[in-house]
Amino acid sequence: MAVRNFEYKDLEEVWEIAKEALEENYTMDFLLYLWQINPDGFLVAEKNGKIVGFILSAKQSKDELRILMLAVKKEYRGQGIGSMLLKELLLKFPEVRRIYLEVKVENKKAIKFYKKHGFKIKEKIKDFYTDGSSAYLMEKILY
Ligand SMILES: CC(C)(COP(=O)(O)OP(=O)(O)OC[C@H]1O[C@@H](n2cnc3c(N)ncnc32)[C@H](O)[C@@H]1OP(=O)(O)O)[C@@H](O)C(=O)NCCC(=O)NCCS
Repeated sequence: MAVRNFEYKDLEEVWEIAKEALEENYTMDFLLYLWQINPDGFLVAEKNGKIVGFILSAKQSKDELRILMLAVKKEYRGQGIGSMLLKELLLKFPEVRRIYLEVKVENKKAIKFYKKHGFKIKEKIKDFYTDGSSAYLMEKILY
């Protein structure tokens, strides 16, 4: 398993994973747009030539990073791939002191995952998703 920067050829595979794993429906154009404005913040996990997960983030200030999407293909979950994507992302941004994200209040598995990685729930944001459901803002202060 290797973690590397997203490349244009990965687009369809990444989009398929986003479609399967994430509740919002993102278009390929939107993924490309996010890649263009944050080329270093988009990593993929590759196993035997196939993309099995990805993380997409955006710098919000010189020392703050926001995770926009993190997803691992269903049959590859629980193998440390999500953890590795998160770890590799942080290695790419040593200047980042605060990392944060929004996660659906009902997404117990992801909340547990982020807590295990030292994130804390800071606040609840009502009406965050297009279906009207709420999110938790979770953050980790690195140093
Ligand atoms: C959240 C998500 C990205 C985690 O990815 P993952 O690759 O399954 O994460 P990891 O394997 O690193 O960790 C998950 C669990 O597997 C366990 N694990 C880690 N390495 C492992 C290994 N080598 N073998 C077996 N289990 C392992 C971890 O202990 C963890 O268990 P937990 O239930 O106690 O937390 C994944 O569940 C997912 O894609 N969910 C759907 C999309 C989503 O909700 N994204 C977040 C929205 S913001």
